[in-house]
Formats: sequence, C-alpha cells, structure tokens
Amino acid sequence: MALQLGDEAPNFTAETTEGSVNFHEWIGNGWAVLFSHPKDFTPVCTTELGRLSALKGEFDKRNVKVIGLSVDPVDDHRRWAGDIKETQGHALNFPLIADSDRKVATLYNMIHPNASDTMTVRSVFVIGPDKKIKLSLTYPASTGRNFDELLRVIDSLQLTAKHKVATPVDWKQGQDVIIVPSVSDADAKNLFPGGWKTIKPYLRVVPQPKS
Ligand code: BEZ
Repeated sequence: MALQLGDEAPNFTAETTEGSVNFHEWIGNGWAVLFSHPKDFTPVCTTELGRLSALKGEFDKRNVKVIGLSVDPVDDHRRWAGDIKETQGHALNFPLIADSDRKVATLYNMIHPNASDTMTVRSVFVIGPDKKIKLSLTYPASTGRNFDELLRVIDSLQLTAKHKVATPVDWKQGQDVIIVPSVSDADAKNLFPGGWKTIKPYLRVVPQPKS
C-alpha cells in the first residue's frame, strides 16, 4: 500500500554522492526532505537541483536536510553535478541517492508504471524528527516543482507541530493563523492571551505565535 501521512518513513541504507547513508541516522533529530527526480542529464531536473542548491541556506535555517534520488548510478550523479554548477550557478550541496536497483524507489512508490516504467516521478516526502511522513507530493516529469512552496509548507508544518493552530490559504510566515477547532474558547484564552478575532465560531483568527 502507498505510504500515507503519519506513516513511519521506511528506513534504508543507500549509496549516495556523499557516501553510504543510513536514512534514519542521517536525518538525526531534525527534519528531512526526500525527493526523487526522473533522470540525470535532463533539463527540468537540472533546473530543480540548481534551485534546491541555491535554497540550501533556507533549508538549513529550518533544520531540514535535503536528499535527492534517481535510479541513475553514482558516477552519473557526480558527472551531472558539474553541469548543474555550470548551467545553474550553484554547485550541488546535498546528497543524491544512486538507486540503480530501485530499492528506495520501490519502498516509497516513486515509480508509477503508467507514467514511466524506467524513471521515478517527481516525488517529495517531508519527514519530521519523529521519522513520520508529514507531507507527500507527486509531480509528473514534465513539471518542475516550486521549492518556495515547499519551504512555505515546511514553515506551516513546523509551526502547527508546536502550536494549536492551522494555516489558511496562501499563508506565509508571519501572517495570521487559525485556532484549531478542537480548542475551546476557554482553552484558547490560556493559549492565546493576546486575544483573537472570531469571524465564525469555527473560524478564529490569531496573530502567528512566536516560535
Ligand atoms: C526533465 O527533467 O527535463 C525531464 C525528465 C524526464 C522526462 C521529461 C523531462
């Protein structure tokens, strides 16, 4: 069965551009993004990996490690890294898994045979410090992902893991949030002493709690 939100992210040991990695040990106590791309030396993937490398500091700030995967061998990953640096202006600065035997792709259901028998789709898994899956996304090979959106979702996941709030449509860091419906008004008085605005009894808006 496909992995679902709340499931434990399957552990594995794999060869990467930065040596052998035991996934759970590599995650440590922080957050992680595991993503697949269809193939090395392809145009959209080249832009994606350049952009992710450019954003490394943003992931670091959020205590999130990033690791990529395709079913290509590690020598290809290393040769392709030169093209990424040359064409995107940012050197690859996170590990890429060489999943030639499709072990990890199979564990995470990253090959969708009706899309392609030979390549992984563009999967993204965000994994929390408890090693549980917090978010999954699947994009087709033809569509590059928006990694600013991934950072936005991570901000929401990290905030809502800590506070009894949810984030509304198009929310961005610093904007007002919503008190979750399971919190009564009586409890909300303790949790949000600065007060909130009730638009409907189920729609209570509060400034974003400070971390
Ligand atoms: C790409 O990254 O450009 C790509 C990869 C596989 C199929 C189509 C496009």
